Amino acid sequence: MAQNRYLKLGTFLQGVGSSMSLWRHPELEADASIRFPLYVDLARKAEAGKFDFVFIADGLHINENSIPHFLNRFEPLTLLSALAAATSRIGLVGTLSTSYSEPFTVARQFSSLDHISGGRAGWNVVTSPSDGAAANFNKGKHPAHAERYRIAEEYLEVTTGLWDSWEDDAFIRDKTSGVFFDPAKLHRLNHKGEFFSVQGPLNIARSKQGRPIIFQAGSSDAGRNLAAKTADAVFTGQETLEEARAFYKDVKTRARAFGRSPEELLIFPGISVIVGRTAEEAERKYEEIAGLGSIQDALTYLSRFFDYHDFTQYPLDEPFPELGDFGSNGFRSTTDKIKKDAKELHLTLRQVALRASTPRTAFTGTPEHIADQLEEWFREEAADGFIIGSGVPGGFHDFVDQVVPLLQQRGLYRNEYEEDTLRGHLGLPYPENRYTKQKITN
Ligand SMILES: Cc1cc2nc3c(=O)[nH]c(=O)nc-3n(C[C@H](O)[C@H](O)[C@H](O)COP(=O)(O)O)c2cc1C
Repeated sequence: MAQNRYLKLGTFLQGVGSSMSLWRHPELEADASIRFPLYVDLARKAEAGKFDFVFIADGLHINENSIPHFLNRFEPLTLLSALAAATSRIGLVGTLSTSYSEPFTVARQFSSLDHISGGRAGWNVVTSPSDGAAANFNKGKHPAHAERYRIAEEYLEVTTGLWDSWEDDAFIRDKTSGVFFDPAKLHRLNHKGEFFSVQGPLNIARSKQGRPIIFQAGSSDAGRNLAAKTADAVFTGQETLEEARAFYKDVKTRARAFGRSPEELLIFPGISVIVGRTAEEAERKYEEIAGLGSIQDALTYLSRFFDYHDFTQYPLDEPFPELGDFGSNGFRSTTDKIKKDAKELHLTLRQVALRASTPRTAFTGTPEHIADQLEEWFREEAADGFIIGSGVPGGFHDFVDQVVPLLQQRGLYRNEYEEDTLRGHLGLPYPENRYTKQKITN
């Protein structure tokens, strides 16, 4: 299946990076997380590399132990709206939590981005792992893992329903007759569910790509089911080819069980790449970033996944401590994986913290090596595409200049955009308006 299709590529926009210490690198602007021109430069570089989309992760709670990028950064939809005007073809995907927002507002915001960008918007649906967010949103208690996913499922029913408020040809705008729209093609959702009561209609029409593309991030059982049922794409954090293949197969099987075609749900592992002219140069670059942080930084980084648990109380060079349920209500799939790897590979606390904070990925090496890895994961059905994170400053430009041409030469990647919407880039079908469909089938 994958052989006849192009590999898809997105890239993270993440300012000073996703580690505690990358901001200290001599070649990185230390205020990159709030320097708009740097985001424009990256988005335009990604567009020059014919990328499918840029991708912005997000969170709603910080404390003194958060990674530097989280402490001072832009809200994703605001940033993407500005980037829409600075680019013309690339998809614009932003993260927004279903646990701390209202579906009517969010449907409207993403639809607006979709219109402003000419059909290039995508929404990464998350459920907010940190219970600290509850204190920022006038809510007493952070919903438990299972409840967050129930909310998310209903939330997506509401937003996708609202996006169908207007049939595609509902707006007539006939100045002579004075008819602005056809009332038979305007629909109220009248949703009443466990968590939401939303009447509709939405005050914005469908976009060029029908509706925004839905990404889902969250890899537990509940997360996989939500993706299989409702998403167009999944952002996941698989580390090895073997794990990625198993995840891919599992999620596609679940999609099939929900009566969907597995080709309509694309799997995107997020990966960190380091390109060197030689393997030694790539290794040197890795060592340089690994050397920027202390073991204390690595423990702090690790603690975020475990409700900011204090790891300094344990000996560093003894087996990873038994943590019971810590982390299972927050980043469940991530903490389950950390605990499992620690046990199976007999890792010490120091090793676990370093693997989490500065992972040495399979995508470190020469352009040929990285292209080989990407090709293998794609052909082996471990991924439909990747979200590229650059482990080092300037690394994304190296990827576009040195790895993308190899993928193009191998026929794995487009030379030119064939379409101008995100849905078109991803090869996903146009979703027909549900009411129009009903009329056709009745
Ligand atoms: C790969 C991945 C990326 C995620 N990205 C975000 C994010 O950007 N913002 C956020 O609030 N939560 C993010 N989450 C957290 C999930 O939305 C969810 O709250 C948490 O992981 C628990 O779900 P899980 O156990 O299904 O993974 C991410 C989770 C995963 C696995």
